[in-house]
Amino acid sequence: MSLQRVTLLGGTGFVGRALAARLAAEGVAVRVVARNAHTATDLPEGVGALAADVRDARAVRRALADANAVVYLPGCVTGRSESPFRELHVNAPRACAEQAATEGVTRFVYVSALGVRRDAPSHADRTKAEGERAVAAVFPDATVVRAGLTLGAGDHFATPLADAMRRYPLLPVLGPGTRIQPLHRDDLVAALTAAMRRDDTNGRTYEAGGPTTLSMHALVKAVRRAAGAHCWLPPLPQGLAMAAGALAELAPTPRFCRDQVRLMRTDKVVRGDLPTLDRLGITPRDPVADLDAFLAV
Ligand SMILES: NC(=O)c1ccc[n+]([C@@H]2O[C@H](COP(=O)([O-])OP(=O)(O)OC[C@H]3O[C@@H](n4cnc5c(N)ncnc54)[C@H](OP(=O)(O)O)[C@@H]3O)[C@@H](O)[C@H]2O)c1
Repeated sequence: MSLQRVTLLGGTGFVGRALAARLAAEGVAVRVVARNAHTATDLPEGVGALAADVRDARAVRRALADANAVVYLPGCVTGRSESPFRELHVNAPRACAEQAATEGVTRFVYVSALGVRRDAPSHADRTKAEGERAVAAVFPDATVVRAGLTLGAGDHFATPLADAMRRYPLLPVLGPGTRIQPLHRDDLVAALTAAMRRDDTNGRTYEAGGPTTLSMHALVKAVRRAAGAHCWLPPLPQGLAMAAGALAELAPTPRFCRDQVRLMRTDKVVRGDLPTLDRLGITPRDPVADLDAFLAV
């Protein structure tokens, strides 16, 4: 499909910015939408920004006006209960997809994650799985892209971890045995672009993982190597992690929570029964091999 105007809900974040840059470079008119879009700096050249909350129906109507394709990116990382995860992973994307259908938007892409399951131990994984179905119920042609842990310059994993490793002599590792299939941000961007452009993606779910599967402990060690750090990386026992999560949840805006501990109880890898990046014409690169470059930026 020819893309003319694309709205990226949650387009000012780590993935959204890179997607906006690629689409804008290809001549697509891009609007990024986020609560703090008005203060977002360094947006790619030519990209329009609209400050709006995806939970606000009137704001969403404005955000989707004239768009022929929409990508839904907002995700919840911390929460004391299921409610904030449900709001951002189920209720808001369902309402956005419903509004998109009403507005005559042709393509709707929902960004989900590897490892989501209806019976997963974490609110994050369960509500993403529910959100996929909620979107499909109101926008049957929607495409779901389940991303693996995504790495790139300024990511949410290797970048802060490397920073902490350079400052502390010891960092306990959460879920050391959990299997991870890290994804290069450029490959996720390529997948989301293909999901919008190609008609054969309608109504399908793709699993986007990189070419290498490794344990969380091995991945953290790779980050340590790339960071040039020497800190000790002992496994963090589950009981202690849950206690730390409960304590962190007492903060007004928690940066860690028990759900993150539950999230790490299950592997984040491609399942094998759903189409993957090769079906979108993408040969994924190994982002672990590029960690040095990501951390140098
Ligand atoms: N990064 C990864 O490793 C990874 C892996 C697998 C899946 N994913 C999924 O990919 C998606 C994007 O990830 P990301 O790393 O780009 O996240 P991110 O950097 O945290 O960006 C999230 C974006 O959503 C916006 N947002 C959050 N709440 C909003 C709300 N209520 N209304 C409007 N906008 C809102 C944020 O801006 P404001 O705060 O200004 O509103 C920001 O633009 C998420 O759904 C995530 O679960 C990411």
